[in-house]
Amino acid sequence: MVLFPSWCLSSLPLLATGRSIWSVGKPQGSVEVLEELPLPEEFFKKYIQDKGGEFEGYGKPVLMPKAATRMPAFSKWSDAYLLENYGDTRLDQVETEKKETRTKYPHEDWTLKKFLSKYNTSVLYSTATTPPNLGREVYLLPVMNCGGYSRKLAATVLWMSSGGTKSVIHQDGQDNIHCQFDGQKDWILWESSAPIRKTEMGWVWAENEAEQDPSFKDAYGQYAGRLDVDNVDVEAYPGWEKLRWWNMTMKAGDCAFIPRHWFHFVQSPPMRSISIHVWFHGEKFDPRSCEALTAKGFDLSNFLLSIGDCTFGYEHGKKGSATKCKMSKKKAVASEL
Ligand SMILES: *[C@@H]1O[C@H](CO)[C@@H](O)[C@H](O)[C@H]1NC(C)=O
Ligand SMILES: *[C@@H]1O[C@H](CO)[C@@H](O)[C@H](O)[C@H]1NC(C)=O
Repeated sequence: MVLFPSWCLSSLPLLATGRSIWSVGKPQGSVEVLEELPLPEEFFKKYIQDKGGEFEGYGKPVLMPKAATRMPAFSKWSDAYLLENYGDTRLDQVETEKKETRTKYPHEDWTLKKFLSKYNTSVLYSTATTPPNLGREVYLLPVMNCGGYSRKLAATVLWMSSGGTKSVIHQDGQDNIHCQFDGQKDWILWESSAPIRKTEMGWVWAENEAEQDPSFKDAYGQYAGRLDVDNVDVEAYPGWEKLRWWNMTMKAGDCAFIPRHWFHFVQSPPMRSISIHVWFHGEKFDPRSCEALTAKGFDLSNFLLSIGDCTFGYEHGKKGSATKCKMSKKKAVASEL
């Protein structure tokens, strides 16, 4: 038996197989980058559907640099401003881990003031529902102005931390528009048809896993729970080497579209990070809603709908769950943005 000094033992597994997820598989380079925002119908065809493209029917991710720079949140949201204006606002979920394992209990009712006083010095990560008052300083991207999406808004989340976060590899059932207001997020995206949801890929249903493996106690949902993104065991899960993936870095002011069911991993470097996402169901596009808005004199390329003026909670197939947005201050605010 070979003896190693004790400082060496902890790094042994890393020497054996340890590879970061960034060094595994077949990187295809950048996702598409859009310098100018298209109108809703074009966005639907090109990205939500990828009509005529390689991912037709599944959608194609796209980075929209600077798309959030005209939203009030981008220029206003310093800690001092948030504290002064929204200190008493409640956050319904603050995680107590930065590398996601889904096994620790979050705090469920903190004020923003309490969060701000601790997030730079403790391990905390807001994954709270975007409070409506903060949401008034964030807009749906103009690509969502019409088409029927405002009736199918599933959820919105305020992501905030001092950085250094890492997600699990997972997929979501909703289309996602994510905007970064401070900091940075680095994404790996695997196409939605990639054969990832398999035991051989380290994929788990946490609730089932917990029955045999206590380390999944209290974990929830489906994700690549057997894969450590910092130390990928490619011998145990060689399938990951065969997968194509695309990368995307979001900086402050950027927005991105991530189609439903695309698998993703997200990490942030150690710096203040704030982003907001909107989950919606974009399967169908209703052109009449666009015609109606245009007829009323609205410019579809403007920011018309704030997140705080929308309701959320749409669920596919659930009666009465349709959402709505009110066009609060009409054209004036929209064209000022
Ligand atoms: C993908 O990664 C490369 C190399 O780090 C980087 O230059 C490029 O900007 C990234 N792509 C996007 C869309 O962020
Ligand atoms: C936390 O750190 C960031 C810099 O990373 C700074 O901008 C912010 O004001 C700090 N917040 C508090 C409450 O100390």
